[in-house]
Amino acid sequence: SKLSLDYKNASSFFSEDELKYFQPYVEQAHNQLHQKTGAGNEFLGWVDLPKKISETEISDIKKTADYVKNNCDVFLVIGIGGSYLGAKAAIEMLNHSFYNELSDEKRTAPKIYFVGQNVSGTYLKHLIDVLEGKEVMVNVISKSGTTTEPAVAFRIIRELLEKKYGKEGAQKRIIATTDKSKGALRALADQEGYKTFVIEDDIGGRFSVLTAVGLLPIAVSGADIEEIIKGAKSAYNDFNSPKLLDNYCYQYAVIRNIFYRKGKTVEIMANYEPSLAYLSEWWKQLYGESEGKDHKGLFPASVNFTTDLHSMGQYIQDGMRNLFQTVIEVKSPKEDITLPYDQQNLDGLNYLSGKTVNFINDKALKGTLLAHTDGNVPNIVLKLDNISEHSFGYLIYFFEKACGISGYLLGVNPFDQPGVEAYKKNMFALLGKEGYEKEKEVLENRLK
Ligand code: PA5
Repeated sequence: SKLSLDYKNASSFFSEDELKYFQPYVEQAHNQLHQKTGAGNEFLGWVDLPKKISETEISDIKKTADYVKNNCDVFLVIGIGGSYLGAKAAIEMLNHSFYNELSDEKRTAPKIYFVGQNVSGTYLKHLIDVLEGKEVMVNVISKSGTTTEPAVAFRIIRELLEKKYGKEGAQKRIIATTDKSKGALRALADQEGYKTFVIEDDIGGRFSVLTAVGLLPIAVSGADIEEIIKGAKSAYNDFNSPKLLDNYCYQYAVIRNIFYRKGKTVEIMANYEPSLAYLSEWWKQLYGESEGKDHKGLFPASVNFTTDLHSMGQYIQDGMRNLFQTVIEVKSPKEDITLPYDQQNLDGLNYLSGKTVNFINDKALKGTLLAHTDGNVPNIVLKLDNISEHSFGYLIYFFEKACGISGYLLGVNPFDQPGVEAYKKNMFALLGKEGYEKEKEVLENRLK
């Protein structure tokens, strides 16, 4: 398989019996997911998605991606949360580390920028600077079609496109990914006649990377989306057994819950490849939004090593012992480079000459693993064969399935997100949105 779970460096922190104790609960959670009988069962479309996604949908996405590639220098992806992190994670993981900076000969696809994932005027202004003199196309992604951040960015970008290309010209350069009938974006797209992709009702934002939400931007970057789906399908088959001992996806879910119950309340996702930084961001949303409710849940954190060994490494080694770590080890990274021999050896590195940079990285990983374990931080290692479309799809499905199981074991509805509404209500009130007049007064008094 593309992935394996190694919990040798976590196993002294719990017994095999503790793991086995979860078997009946895992089986129950498995049935709840597959028979759609658990909490949040209206949002389980992701479970069978790798098998269900149609040839027509894939070919429509690929055709649209080709159209985008042939018609612009810059592709803007507008979205936030689940409508942005999956595509960003894939594009960072699967492409050149300096994708946007590559010369046009080396990059066969447009530059890709994300916007609408914040409300920074500076970010938008600077982005517009970059668009100067470039041919631009846009994919605006919002399931609800009413999220403020992408809506604000889209209004500004749309105006810019309409000025540059005229109304009709702009219409051909905008693709909207949204609900089939609800929301402001759907109404706007229908009125303007934009090309659209539909996000099904039963797939929540953070579980939507394997739909057009993620797949269109990923395809534009040149990645092979069929391989991604194949990877996800193969994970679907590999993690389909309710038997804990045969299913390491479920083992991961259980081990997290064991640690949580032992007071290890923070899970740190660690990688040693900078291209995986956004995979961790995607993972944080998946687990944080799925489990952080009813005043419980592990806090998902992430570090990029060895970079952060020089910042957060101290805390992990020696700070409060409420942590455990999940390390992603890539067995065969995409590229490598050998350290040359240097006659003078003033830097004292000749003992490494002839060795590769990945060799050094691997020793850093193994040394850190043991040091952190000795420092009483259990380490789970997810070993990924390589960085490829197939392994991306596999990993995504692994984490999604584990998240569903883990959330049910925790006793929450993993598929809602009531907590994200609180800030919106306050923001709308403070902005003076119609219908929030009373709240506005109360909040403004509190801010005095
Ligand atoms: O997972 C979620 O539901 C959220 O993170 C959403 O994806 C995010 O709030 C964006 O929502 P929408 O796609 O409706 O604009």
